[in-house]
Amino acid sequence: MTETTADLLNAKAMGADLERVDGLAKVTGQAPYAFEQHAFDERAHAPLYIHPVQSTIAKGRVTAVHGERAAALPGVAAVLSHENAPRLTPEDDSDVAMIQTSDDRELLVLQSDEVSYRGQIVAAVVADTPETAREAARLVGVDYAAEPHDAAFSPDSADLPEPTVDTELGDVAAAMAAAAVTVDAAYSTPIQHNNPMEPHATTVVRSGGALTVFEGTQAVHIVRRILAALFSLDAERVQVIGPYVGGGFGAKGSVHAPLVLACLAATVLEGRPVKIALTRRQMFELVGYRPPTVQRVRLGADAEGRISAVGNDVTTHTSRLKRFVENAGGSAAMMYAGENRSIGHRVAELDISPATFMRAPGHAPGMFALEVAMDELAEACGLDPIELRVRNEPGTDPVSGLPYSSRGLLDCLSEGASRFGWEGRDPRPGVREEDGWLVGTGVAASTFPAFTMPGSAARIRFAGEGRYEVSIGAADIGTGSWTALTQIAADALSVPVEDVALALGDSALPAATVAGGSAGTSSWGTAIVQAARAFVDSHGTEPAAGAELTTVLKRPPDTRGYSTHAFGAQFAEVRVRADTGEVRVPRVLGVFAAGRIINPRTARSQLIGGMTMGVSMALHEESVIDPRFGHVVNHDFASYHVAANADIGDVQAYWVEEHDPHVNPMGAKGIGEIGITGTAAAIVNAAHHATGVRVRALPMTLDHFL
Ligand code: MOS
Repeated sequence: MTETTADLLNAKAMGADLERVDGLAKVTGQAPYAFEQHAFDERAHAPLYIHPVQSTIAKGRVTAVHGERAAALPGVAAVLSHENAPRLTPEDDSDVAMIQTSDDRELLVLQSDEVSYRGQIVAAVVADTPETAREAARLVGVDYAAEPHDAAFSPDSADLPEPTVDTELGDVAAAMAAAAVTVDAAYSTPIQHNNPMEPHATTVVRSGGALTVFEGTQAVHIVRRILAALFSLDAERVQVIGPYVGGGFGAKGSVHAPLVLACLAATVLEGRPVKIALTRRQMFELVGYRPPTVQRVRLGADAEGRISAVGNDVTTHTSRLKRFVENAGGSAAMMYAGENRSIGHRVAELDISPATFMRAPGHAPGMFALEVAMDELAEACGLDPIELRVRNEPGTDPVSGLPYSSRGLLDCLSEGASRFGWEGRDPRPGVREEDGWLVGTGVAASTFPAFTMPGSAARIRFAGEGRYEVSIGAADIGTGSWTALTQIAADALSVPVEDVALALGDSALPAATVAGGSAGTSSWGTAIVQAARAFVDSHGTEPAAGAELTTVLKRPPDTRGYSTHAFGAQFAEVRVRADTGEVRVPRVLGVFAAGRIINPRTARSQLIGGMTMGVSMALHEESVIDPRFGHVVNHDFASYHVAANADIGDVQAYWVEEHDPHVNPMGAKGIGEIGITGTAAAIVNAAHHATGVRVRALPMTLDHFL
């Protein structure tokens, strides 16, 4: 099935600067988040609270759990361990899983005595207050038989291949040897932790064979499927509800151990609502993170800067418990021209907690390395960094050979240059000083794939008096998708947005894919457009009140003939204190080409948010594992720094007009992740322009300049 934007070209609702449909409820505190939700029989039973007991060894076995002191504490309802927890029934259900299967070993909570990482849940207490549960958890004694562990990452020990994303074209070594100008350097990015404002939280009750779960999640239907499998329930007996989610950044895109623990507790305490809310510290131990990368990037070019060789040899690590690889080489695979290309990934298996998706997985570290290397190549060629990118614009996708459905990189670079004031920039590094601050500017490109996932469905119901109800089990994790989907539905039904009431965030609504991969709005919007078309086909434009129709998007739009990506360009101004090395980023400006912008207000917010996270990535974010113990030692906001208001100067987001008839019926590409890609490189490149110091390891702390 081929989709075009043709019948949505006269969009009235799309493109409008509509306020968030959930905005008033949120800012007035009336939007209940998962922990605040009241389970249905809280009148009969006050909720109970869970606190996990976490392993203090990185590898080995639990030999005994001493729960007596905890159980004796007034208010304690249960002490769980592998000795008494209900058995889970994981399946290899990979045929139906987009992201996660229920035999994911991260999910097998309290199922054996095995310990695979420090911080793993080895017991838990359920009590009548969160404070009692926490104190009782402290009283649980756990004996271990520890075994030697390995939690030290080094690129040299990364010896497991990860061939699925590797690329070999031509002969990079020969092309490098023949190139007039080369860059060959290693770039590194640290572990980074997803830190949404709302830590993971769950309210769950199991009653009469049904499981009702209030969960802050990016995908209510994935959660339902995983829990139904783990607890041997019909999917119809599991309901997952999460209309309001305080951010996820990927960490709420799949199920993690604390949710399974909550459902185990609810099973033991049948009929009682149980709640769990992770502490910020537990967020560093139980819900994933972005793995570190060391990327050896090779670029070879002729004297005019035309690239002949592109290489990225990525090393990273994975938890031995669960393979997750940060595919940082994907950026170098597709971004620029070059006949010879070699992209490889090698992985070290360590006894550490499992990783997960974090905003722009792969491309956030990948575009850091590639775009700093491009800046180095520009300098080596004596070219303006924008001109270098212009000269290496590929006509077609360098790996697949496919044409781009649209590729607006050059428009973004030129519009960004003019908005930022790039023209006339003195390329010499380290020559501008103002009041003791060295001043520089830098640029980098950004990209993220545009795609549509199969498997979403939508229901259209005509409520009478011109009003439509549109239902889809999608998620709005703070991105504005609720609002954007309402606009898409209005245009698909040719009615004003006021006449559309859109429901999401509930697995009782039609199936929907994850709010992830910057593919949420594309995937759900396509399903809504198809359902609206089918509804009009069946019921006409003057339907009877109560007319209803549900359709499933079995296959996404056929984009196989095209390479589909969003592009952008970020510009940054950086000031580095000459005597102390202190870094300031007064200005970041990005211009993006992401197809149709469905809502400029929420889109701008996503792009600014992505760039803000890019500033944070550039300057601050770094999780440090102590290999002696195997856990992240800076597991709080006192020592894991995220950019605060004072770190962020003027951040501006713009976009170019782009009509892409191939990606989906809306002509829209995703915007949730592209903003973070490229931003850290622009900042590092600006710091080099300011100081002459080339930083190749994030975060760019002040010691780099001393
Ligand atoms: Mo996003 S990291 O794909 O949830």
